[in-house]
Amino acid sequence: MNFSDHTSIRQTLENVLEQSKSVAEKGEVASYIPELARREKDLLGVSVCLQDGTLLSAGDAHLPFTLQSISKIFSLMVALCEHGGDYVFRRVGKEPTGDPFNSIIKLETIKPHKPLNPMINAGAIAVAGMIPGATIEARLEKIMRLLRKMTGNADLRVNEKVYQSEKQTADRNRALAYFLKDSGILEGDVEETLDLYFRHCSIEVTTAEVARMAAVLAADGYDIRSGEQLFPREVARICKTFMVTCGMYNASGEFAIDVGIPAKSGVAGGIMAAVPQRMGIGVFGPALDDKGNSVAGVHLLQKLSQQWELSIF
Ligand code: DON
Repeated sequence: MNFSDHTSIRQTLENVLEQSKSVAEKGEVASYIPELARREKDLLGVSVCLQDGTLLSAGDAHLPFTLQSISKIFSLMVALCEHGGDYVFRRVGKEPTGDPFNSIIKLETIKPHKPLNPMINAGAIAVAGMIPGATIEARLEKIMRLLRKMTGNADLRVNEKVYQSEKQTADRNRALAYFLKDSGILEGDVEETLDLYFRHCSIEVTTAEVARMAAVLAADGYDIRSGEQLFPREVARICKTFMVTCGMYNASGEFAIDVGIPAKSGVAGGIMAAVPQRMGIGVFGPALDDKGNSVAGVHLLQKLSQQWELSIF
């Protein structure tokens, strides 16, 4: 594949999109956050950001959606930059769970009671607790500042409706957070940390923005558009490794075999995929499979990976 031939890249994106659209029928839009349930099931968009910064898109790439669990990568980045790995990994583990993203079971049965990794909800709530700042706004701003730089969008914002909708229905996350407080993993005010977590999950993006974020990760933290190193190479390495081992939850093994790209999904239907030293990919398709991953999005990435030989393995 010649990646300077933009017409043929666009054509490939259109083709894989067409091949994947009908797969959405097999999935369901997330309903446990009521505001997400309002989305049409058969939307599908894809954007690719090449290492020279070229951005190419197909389908519903202009539609905004919330990051949800994709944001867990960026809260982890901020925590690692603020505290370093030793501090972070004393409070959250490095192992995949084999359980659903909101599972509570291993938190109690494994001792010490630290969440197994920062990609499951318990782990991401523990990470949110590590983000310092005098107010929730100041803590959120640390994540927003990083994302504004990565996307080049100075107006990036939280979708208030989705944030309120999640906040009102998040009793399982509340249970996880209070258990973490009781276990000494979470310090400070639990409701404030939950609020920060709900807000960073509700940051609104498009596939183009997700592709840009992924391209920075793919380039080990270097942003070609600004010429800046936005975070240390080591932080990029850790995040991409978690994307391989835990990014697609209890489907991460299957995804590694079928697609082979470090990736992170969210229940709004987004997937961020970073092909090391080659490109960033953003996909949006709100119909999810039973593990909470975009069903058409995974299909599209599989087709793209086959066509362009993107697997890292
Ligand atoms: O905490 C939650 O349940 C959501 N804010 C995020 C979960 C999520 O995106 C899982 N991903 N597939």
